[in-house]
Amino acid sequence: MAKKPSFSCNECANITSKWSGRCEACGAWNSIVEDAGLSSSGPAKAGLGTVRGRAVQLTDLSTEEAPPARTLSGLNELDRVLGGGLVPASATLVGGDPGIGKSTLLLQAAAQFANMGLKTIYVSGEESSAQIRMRAQRLGLTNAPVQLAAETNLRDILTTLEIENPQLAIIDSIQTMWSDSVGSAPGSVAQVRAAAHELTSFAKRRNMAVILVGHVTKDGQIAGPRVVEHMVDTVLYFEGERGHQFRILRAVKNRFGPSDEIGVFEMTGMGLAQVTNPSALFLSERGTPSPGSVVFAGVEGTRPVLVELQALVAPSPHSQPRRTVVGWDGGRLAMILAVLEARVGIPFTGLDVYLNVAGGMKISEPAADLAVAAALLSAREDAALPAETVVFGEISLSGALRPAPQSENRLKEAQKLGFTGALAPAGGKGVKVDGITLNQMSDLTAFVGDVFGAG
Ligand code: TYD
Ligand code: MG
Repeated sequence: MAKKPSFSCNECANITSKWSGRCEACGAWNSIVEDAGLSSSGPAKAGLGTVRGRAVQLTDLSTEEAPPARTLSGLNELDRVLGGGLVPASATLVGGDPGIGKSTLLLQAAAQFANMGLKTIYVSGEESSAQIRMRAQRLGLTNAPVQLAAETNLRDILTTLEIENPQLAIIDSIQTMWSDSVGSAPGSVAQVRAAAHELTSFAKRRNMAVILVGHVTKDGQIAGPRVVEHMVDTVLYFEGERGHQFRILRAVKNRFGPSDEIGVFEMTGMGLAQVTNPSALFLSERGTPSPGSVVFAGVEGTRPVLVELQALVAPSPHSQPRRTVVGWDGGRLAMILAVLEARVGIPFTGLDVYLNVAGGMKISEPAADLAVAAALLSAREDAALPAETVVFGEISLSGALRPAPQSENRLKEAQKLGFTGALAPAGGKGVKVDGITLNQMSDLTAFVGDVFGAG
């Protein structure tokens, strides 16, 4: 059967079944083009016997090849997030808000990799070569054998890469790249998609590693929506709060290593400095134990990280009390509040609730549930938690507490930082860490009774 032609928008990639002058999805004019699909040209309708093409060679799963030799940059925080160094012929996307420090990080990485012997080219579509050289001077990197180009024309960039044959190319940023084979403006979804596709397939073909920088839009996606993420092997996000100097490089996808791994950096006047002990840094601003403040023993990837959670609960002047969260999921906060009310009988009606993760850190682990509940209760009851105590564990809707993975890792980190107690769910493997008194409870009611002396 003949396949109906399909059309897509060059601006927003929306797919429709009929052509029109204006895209219904994004409102752009003259952006709809017919997709030249394989099947629309005919062979499918004549049946399998006339399918044109050559047979693809098939192989089995066994391999004699050694895993590819990775290159370490020497920046441990970066190497760990990459899964143990840079893989040859890999494609990596580094996303983040404008101004967060992506260019700084990648210029430093370029210098490190070049010093390690990789032939490295840094292409900027955003800054002039002079600007990049000035930044390099400020970062003390002027002697690194990195080659710079300030260019946005994709055809010229690919030609240069073909002639120079580098082992690593850094493209800053994918939104500024412009391919003359696509008829829409730079930064549009169609351009970003075409540029990312050209660069990643070039990288695979020529055995070159490529790192693409991508700006994140307001709603937290790399523009255009996810089109680049599935093309690359590794997706890293560079996060941080403007007012804080901490920056977190987080692997959200990695074909060559664990995702969820984080690297922690600090933005200084001389570029990004590695933070080898993030817990100490995140807790450095903590004062004396006060109501509403709780230390959560978290794990990011393979590394334990202690962070302070701060809650404030106050009578609300509004008919609809406020729920404000920074660094954690708002939906999850609503769930914890509902469980506290329904299972333990502690209502938050008529109360404004604010929750903040100190230091600009973002937490997504369910194991933070119990620490959040503890912070909320401590703020509500105006009672500080026992001193030098960490909290972790997941809360289920029934009010039961579930053990968290890597408990031993969490306790060891707490012990290392001078904590002496931990509040955690019962069950799981019996872990013991010298110097930490572990207080385990099986449900939230027991937790509240034990810690706050009331139900
Ligand atoms: P940049 O790497 O240009 O961000 P992005 O590429 O993600 O847009 O970083 C910009 C910010 O970093 C800028 O506000 C200044 C600050 N910065 C420092 O604090 N110290 C430094 O050494 C450098 C190079 C930048
Ligand atoms: Mg930049």
